[in-house]
Amino acid sequence: MTDTPGGSARATDRILVVDFGAQYAQLIARRVREAKVFSEIVPHDLSADEYAARRPTGIIFSGGPASVHVDGAPRIDPGVYDLGVPILGICYGAQLIAHQRGGVVGRNERGEYGRTELTVGDAGTLLADAGSGAHPVWMSHFDAITDAPAGATVTASSPDAPVAAFESAEAGLYAVQFHPEVHHTPCGQDLLRRFVLDVCGCAGDWTMSSVIESSVAAIREQVGDGRAICGLSGGVDSAVAAALVHEAIGDQLICVFVDTGLMRAGEGEQVVDAFEKTQGIELIHVRAAERFFQKLVGVTDPEEKRKAIGELFIRIFEDAAAGIADARFLVQGTLYPDVIESGTKDAAKIKSHHNVGGLPDDMDFVLVEPLRNLFKDEVRSVGTELGLPDEIVWRQPFPGPGLGVRIIGEVTPETVSVLQAADRIVRDEISAAGLEREIWQAFAVLPDIRSVGVMGDERTYARPVIIRAVTSEDAMTADWARLPHDLLEKMSSRIINEVDGVNRVAYDITSKPPGTIEWE
Ligand code: XMP
Repeated sequence: MTDTPGGSARATDRILVVDFGAQYAQLIARRVREAKVFSEIVPHDLSADEYAARRPTGIIFSGGPASVHVDGAPRIDPGVYDLGVPILGICYGAQLIAHQRGGVVGRNERGEYGRTELTVGDAGTLLADAGSGAHPVWMSHFDAITDAPAGATVTASSPDAPVAAFESAEAGLYAVQFHPEVHHTPCGQDLLRRFVLDVCGCAGDWTMSSVIESSVAAIREQVGDGRAICGLSGGVDSAVAAALVHEAIGDQLICVFVDTGLMRAGEGEQVVDAFEKTQGIELIHVRAAERFFQKLVGVTDPEEKRKAIGELFIRIFEDAAAGIADARFLVQGTLYPDVIESGTKDAAKIKSHHNVGGLPDDMDFVLVEPLRNLFKDEVRSVGTELGLPDEIVWRQPFPGPGLGVRIIGEVTPETVSVLQAADRIVRDEISAAGLEREIWQAFAVLPDIRSVGVMGDERTYARPVIIRAVTSEDAMTADWARLPHDLLEKMSSRIINEVDGVNRVAYDITSKPPGTIEWE
C-alpha cells in the first residue's frame, strides 16, 4: 500500500523527483504537490527500468552540489531519456541533461549565487506565465550551460548563465539553471505548474480528500476483517493516523492511550474527548501516572530518565495490547520525511521506521502506516478534513518523555504540577497573542535551583521558571523566538502571581545549535 499515491491501487499521476543532493529535493516535491500532483523523491542511481516501474507521468532532476566534470559525479541511467516521459532538470539536473544530451557545460570563472535577474526571450512553455522581459530568480551554481542540446530552444539567460533555461518539446527535455522551488523565485511555482499540468498532462486532482479516499480503500484492503491497535501519544501524527484508520475500518481499530502523568495540563482529557466522544473511537485509557512517578524516584540523570520513561511506556503499552484479542496490525504515524531520511541513508531501499513512537522492533505486528507519503502540513489538512479539532491538529511537537525532560532534577507529582501550571500560562499567552502557528514550540522549563526574591514584604526562596520559545522549520535547527517584551512581561507576572513555588522567570535566548530545543 505504500507504493501508490495516498496509498491506493488507483492509477494517479506521479512525478518522480530524482535526488541529486538532497538540499532541494524535498522542497521540489512539496511544490509539485502544491500544484495538486502527487510527487515522490527517488534516488538518482536506479536503473531506467526501475524508474519506469514506478509509472511516472513526469520526472524532475533536482539540483546538487557536484560538477558534471568531476569523476564520480552523480549521473542518471541514459535509458531514462528513452522512456517517453517529460524531464525537467533544475540547476545540476539541468547541467546533467545538457551534458548527457549533447549540450555543453562550461566551467565559469566565478559562480552566481543568490538573487539574480533572468532575461526571458522566447517564452516557451514553462515561462509562458512570466512573459518576456526581466524576472528575479534565485541561482546557486558555479558551472554554466553554454550550449543547449541540438534541437532545444534557449528561452532565458542571466548575467552568468547564457543558457539559463532551454526546452525541447520534441525530446521532452526541459531545463532551468535557477531554482523554481524557492520562494525567492516568484515565477517558480507557475513554472512547475506548467511543467506538471501542461507538459506532463497531469490532471491536478491530488487533493487531501482524494488522499483520504484512496487511503481508506488501501487500509481496508490491507487489514481485511482483522483488528488494529494504535498507540495515541497526543501528538498530531498518531492522532491523524488513528482517525484515518478509523474512517476505514471503524470498530476494528482500538486505540491505546497511556497517560504517563507527564503530559501538559488538560492534555489527557483532550485526547479522550477528541477520540472517544467526538470521533467515537474505542479507546483504552491507561492511567499510569503513579507507576511513572514511582519509577522516577531519585532519577536525575537525563539519559536515565529518558530510558526509564521509555521502557515503562513500552511495557504498559505491550500489556494493554496483549489484552486485545487477535490484533495483528499496528498503526503508526510515520511521515514522509522519516521515510526519505531512511531512504537516503540506504538509497536503493526505503525502510519503514519501526521505532516511531518509541515502540520496539520485535513486536509481532504488521504495520499500517497511512501517512508515509505525506508531509506534516498535508497530515494537518487530512486531520482537519477528518474532523479533528484544531487543538489536536495544530498541536506543537511534544517529546515522548513529556514534561519529564523539562524538569531538571527529580520528577515528582509536585514538580509536574508546578510546571504544568507555568506551561499552561506560556501556551495561553502565545495563543492569545495569535503567535501559535508562527512559533514552533513554546513551553516552560523547571530547573532544580532556587533564588532569593521578595514578594510583599516577605523574603522568598523559590524556583525559577525558564520560558523557551523557538522558531524552526524541522527541529534540526532552531532560533530563539523574538517574542515581544510585553508578552514576556505578561507571562512572567502571571507565572509569579499564579504559580505557587515560583519567584523568578527567565527567557532562554539560545539557538540550536549550540543548544537543543529541549533542556534534557
Ligand atoms: P531537541 O531537544 O533534540 O528536540 O532539539 C528536537 C525536537 O524533538 C522533540 N523531541 C522528542 N520527540 N521523543 C519525541 O517524539 C523524544 O524523546 C524527543 N525528544 C525531543 C523536541 O520537542 C523537538 O521538537
